[in-house]
Amino acid sequence: MPDLRVTLGALTLANPVLVAAGTFGYGLEFAATVPLDRLGALITKTLTRQPREGNPPPRLVETPSGLLNSVGLQNAGLDPFLRDTLPALRPAKVPVIVSILGDSEEDVAAMVQRLDREDGVAAIELNLSCPNVNHAAHSSKFDMQSSELHRTSNIEHRTPMVAQDPALTEAMVRAARAKTAKPLIAKLSPDETDLAPRAQAAERAGASALTVGNTFTGMSLDPTTRRSRLGAMTGGLSGPAIRPLAVYRVWYTARSVRLPIIGTGGIVRAEDALEFFLAGASAVAVGTANFADPRTPLRVARGLERYLARQGIASIGQLHGTLQT
Ligand SMILES: Cc1cc2nc3c(=O)[nH]c(=O)nc-3n(C[C@H](O)[C@H](O)[C@H](O)COP(=O)(O)O)c2cc1C
Repeated sequence: MPDLRVTLGALTLANPVLVAAGTFGYGLEFAATVPLDRLGALITKTLTRQPREGNPPPRLVETPSGLLNSVGLQNAGLDPFLRDTLPALRPAKVPVIVSILGDSEEDVAAMVQRLDREDGVAAIELNLSCPNVNHAAHSSKFDMQSSELHRTSNIEHRTPMVAQDPALTEAMVRAARAKTAKPLIAKLSPDETDLAPRAQAAERAGASALTVGNTFTGMSLDPTTRRSRLGAMTGGLSGPAIRPLAVYRVWYTARSVRLPIIGTGGIVRAEDALEFFLAGASAVAVGTANFADPRTPLRVARGLERYLARQGIASIGQLHGTLQT
């Protein structure tokens, strides 16, 4: 059988199909229906240092071939995850990549220091799509409870983000890197077309890999009510609708850094994942498709295996850089 193993810096995975942050909970929710040990890795829903309530409803809207969400980082906080969930995941034998978001370098450093002590953490993914506090007046606006306040503050909370500023990206990754030798993955926002300066900033600061990218900022408005269909006004678009945009960003970014890239955006079938590998990704993360069928990543991995066998390619790594121009 073809070899699906991949290495992302110091992290070796049995197969290159991961589940994307926020689309598979913390894994345990799916343990009864999905053999977790067959996932390349599980990236957890993003955790913050303090619990967050998330955004006001509605939080999900379907759009043509896409999903717009404004979940807004609802989570119970890092400590409860480490105390209750991580030990329960251990028997599942799936590499666990913990996604975290901090709103300052100190915040990120404290979380990474805590994670560094945990054996069950295979890698850390830094979700850099947090508000750039140099521009937004209060980072706490990110999770404002009152929908009234939300309506007025939301534009600030979606943009600009840390991930859109190379200097802040570098500072955040550097703060994290100083506290751990574990593989560190910087997840870049795909908003904007030229990701090279931010990707290079993450590379300079010691990231082991990049995830390219995330949801695209978007809106869906209801002409009848003349309101946004999302309680938080704006949201992030995911699903097949964004795949060509995501493949382009992986291709473009892969030419500007040496870091391995995890490609994410609209993957439903093995054929979709193959586009990302040809564009230069070393691994892929399946997101929205998990809501329709949480076994999608397993199907994608099997499909990759079959494709490689059909093409007479011995390993997934050999696809790298074979895009014909
Ligand atoms: C409902 C929902 C929640 C998400 N939550 C997170 C999150 O907590 N952290 C994060 O980094 N990305 C989050 N994402 C983004 C996904 O991890 C993924 O990068 C993005 O959706 C693109 O992939 P897809 O088109 O396959 O969904 C979320 C996406 C969705 C649809």
